[in-house]
Amino acid sequence: MAEAQAQQRGGYTDDGPATAEGGVRFEVDGEIATITLARPEKRNAQTFATWSALARIGESLPEQVRVVVVKGEGPSFSAGIDLRMFTAEGVPGQGSFGSAARSDGADFEQRIRQAQAGFLWLRRPEIVSIAAVQGHAIGAGFQLALACDLRIVADDVSFCMKEPALGLVPDLTGTKPLVELVGLAKAIDICLTARTVHADEAMRIGLAERVVAGGDLDQAIGEKVAQLLSTNRDAAVATKRLLQGAQARTLEEQSVAEGIEQAARIRALFG
Ligand code: CAA
Repeated sequence: MAEAQAQQRGGYTDDGPATAEGGVRFEVDGEIATITLARPEKRNAQTFATWSALARIGESLPEQVRVVVVKGEGPSFSAGIDLRMFTAEGVPGQGSFGSAARSDGADFEQRIRQAQAGFLWLRRPEIVSIAAVQGHAIGAGFQLALACDLRIVADDVSFCMKEPALGLVPDLTGTKPLVELVGLAKAIDICLTARTVHADEAMRIGLAERVVAGGDLDQAIGEKVAQLLSTNRDAAVATKRLLQGAQARTLEEQSVAEGIEQAARIRALFG
């Protein structure tokens, strides 16, 4: 993957002041898309512009993409929300939480929904998303990692759901995947203490699929991408759809769903 030439680049870091604040780089190489949080000097802190940039990538993702890698440049994956959002001045051109909250309540909820759109598309059945996480993944950073299907982490990773310590709730779509991954009791423990989860625990409780030395993270991601691309594309999409629906269905309903998907596969392959 490292040698591959990027065929398409989305210059979200340099196409205007608002998106520059977003600090998101986007590259497509055939079936692989890579999203890079690219404000390492600010530990990839996220703003409304970051979430808009993520949402736009989701809206315009080329159809051929099968795997989306989400990574952060520098020592941290992401230090979470840009703390300037909590100040009176806010982030230039984007305001602050204070100014947004003083606006009509329904508008503010709509703004949160827009921010969440930047995270939700990463679960689409048509793609598999992988978070490559090193260093800090705090608050919105933790939730961005949780928005992905898989997490491969460096051994220096530290996840922290800091929102409750700041008087907030995790609202960037992270609560459901966290509960599904680690169970309710562990999710309560992690969120309501705002404690740090390091690599060994992340692996043990199912937050991480694999832990590698920091210098090996790119290679580990490349290996996983190659494995994911080795299976049949349409079968992968149908299987992810099945797996995603499994928890909400009874065994009987899931069996029916399997049959429907398989009949479609067999018709496509042999019909
Ligand atoms: N927002 C804005 N700037 C940030 C930032 C953030 N979240 N995190 C780090 N930075 C900036 C620092 O201010 C510093 O900038 P300057 O060089 O201009 O001073 C630069 O990034 C480097 O930071 P540090 O020197 O602190 O770097 P470090 O490697 O020693 O520590 C860190 C890294 C532990 C992540 C530490 O910076 C930190 O604790 N940051 C704040 C984390 C935080 O509380 N995030 C909010 C989470 S809650 C959330 O995300 C809410 C939500 O979704 C609704």
